[in-house]
Amino acid sequence: MLHKARFLCMAAAFFVAPLTQATVSSDQQRIDTGREIYLQRCAACHGVQGEGQPDWQQRNALGELPAPPHGPSGHTWKHSDEMLLRIIKNGWRDPFNKTMRITMPAFKKILSDKEIQEVTIYLKTLWTPEQRLFQKEESKGHPFPKAKQSNEQGSN
Ligand code: HEC
Repeated sequence: MLHKARFLCMAAAFFVAPLTQATVSSDQQRIDTGREIYLQRCAACHGVQGEGQPDWQQRNALGELPAPPHGPSGHTWKHSDEMLLRIIKNGWRDPFNKTMRITMPAFKKILSDKEIQEVTIYLKTLWTPEQRLFQKEESKGHPFPKAKQSNEQGSN
């Protein structure tokens, strides 16, 4: 039984290793594409470096929260992959905003799920290693909807 398990492990390593290597460069490509999307679609509100709008923690004159930073000082890293996709796809407003307006616009008509994943993968490069680890744990039961399989292979 033990013998068999060890064999299975080796077989798995054999098949997974070349796959992981092959994804290294495509991971970088996805980050680069994500960054382009970010600069084009998100930077106007969230800042070129993801620094967020000034006084982003305070509600503005309309009673709405400004765009938060995506880096270590923000809270983007606290959301699972599934949740981030949902926020970007369908838009988002803090429930405590004084208006009903969706302040974070929905991108479902502008970006494909693949592009939303790419921009999210870029956002991950702005986090600290600890935040990345936390978010990876959060995403275990809540991965990008169609990326379940590649998540399980650990390529994310
Ligand atoms: C028109 C301005 C605007 C644009 C453009 C914009 N956002 Fe936002 N975004 C906001 C605002 C405002 C919030 C905060 C909403 C709230 O909490 O009420 C927000 C919130 C978010 C959040 C939730 C953060 C958190 O920690 O809760 C994410 C993730 C996000 N935006 C990602 C993006 C991405 C990715 C893009 C580009 C594809 C983008 N945003 C483009 C204004 C914008």
